[in-house]
Amino acid sequence: MKKPFFTKWHLAKQHVLVRIDGNIPIANESIQNDFRLQAALPTITYLCEKGAFVTLITHLGSPRGYDPSVSTRPIAYWFSERKLPVILLENIRFDPGEKRGDHKFAKTLAHGHDFFINDAWGTMHRNDASIVALPGCFPPEKRSFGFLVEKEFTHLAPLKNATKKPYTLFLGGGKTADKIRYLPSLIQRSAPTTLVILPGIAHTFLAAAGNKQGKSPVHQDLFPLCNEIIKLCKIHGVTLILPSDLLVGKGSWQGEKVVRKISDLDEDDIGISSGPNSMEQYQNIINASKTIFFNGIMGDLRHPTSLEISQKILNSIALSSSYSVIGGGDTVSLAQKLELLNFFSFASSGGGSTLAYISGATLPGIAALEKNATPY
Ligand code: 3PG
Repeated sequence: MKKPFFTKWHLAKQHVLVRIDGNIPIANESIQNDFRLQAALPTITYLCEKGAFVTLITHLGSPRGYDPSVSTRPIAYWFSERKLPVILLENIRFDPGEKRGDHKFAKTLAHGHDFFINDAWGTMHRNDASIVALPGCFPPEKRSFGFLVEKEFTHLAPLKNATKKPYTLFLGGGKTADKIRYLPSLIQRSAPTTLVILPGIAHTFLAAAGNKQGKSPVHQDLFPLCNEIIKLCKIHGVTLILPSDLLVGKGSWQGEKVVRKISDLDEDDIGISSGPNSMEQYQNIINASKTIFFNGIMGDLRHPTSLEISQKILNSIALSSSYSVIGGGDTVSLAQKLELLNFFSFASSGGGSTLAYISGATLPGIAALEKNATPY
């Protein structure tokens, strides 16, 4: 399934429900980064131009019930500013049925709509109602993915099949459990030449391998998976790079900054980013790579040092001659802020979903759109 077939539909005066991924950073009702909304525009504009009545749905954050701080109002305003005649529903995660994958909730969403399009690439790896149950409320010929998903398929193909080597995968930032669960299949399927694990994920790997990590947060429940990944890298000839040194704050992120070798970390140290030796090693790896996937902003970007170091690494990848793909909300936001977006071969609107896809996993959202998917 490579082509969206909603372009074959007769759309004038038809009610079309579109699932987008509008999970974007918003602070005090102000949108901090609209990359994902921009990415959703081609499908929406097309539908409006064809005379369809368009209803958009998205999640925002992970609320438990109603929470005004993650209302979709600023996003609705963003669309109205662009004079697009669309309706955006309130955050669908306000209803617990969304996260439960509830069929009744999906039916409520589907009610009154003739067609359904899922263009929420960033959420295709979830089992939420709007991703897995909603497609089943429409017959196969009345559901489709959108232009954004098609674009992701096209540009991620070089990472999934016949990847040009040396191929380097940089992985860091938050959502550790979410990101590393795809690594075993990724290592076995597409065997990157080098897997670079950056902070904060690196702390869990380093701790799993027996290194004390001071105050840096580690996920003990993930130690077995980390050790399995370390083993798989050896078996499949993947060079695993963990930081050899770290820039740490003493006592807290705001504390005095010190560079430490991994073996010399104090109980009081909290990791901010990789240290200078590691950075030099990353630079050499980038120079030698023909394909790079980067999803790994280090630390918290509100911290100037994290920002500066993440900026350095993104700059190097942007200037390299490799096929370079970045993914993940924080990574893409930073690249956009630095006006570097156009220097990468592709900026993916997904983080976890993109990793899942290139690891060869079946994306629940795509499977649910297939012709013979189980109807609800
Ligand atoms: C994302 O930002 O990765 C997607 O929108 C999915 O969001 P989630 O991790 O809250 O499910």
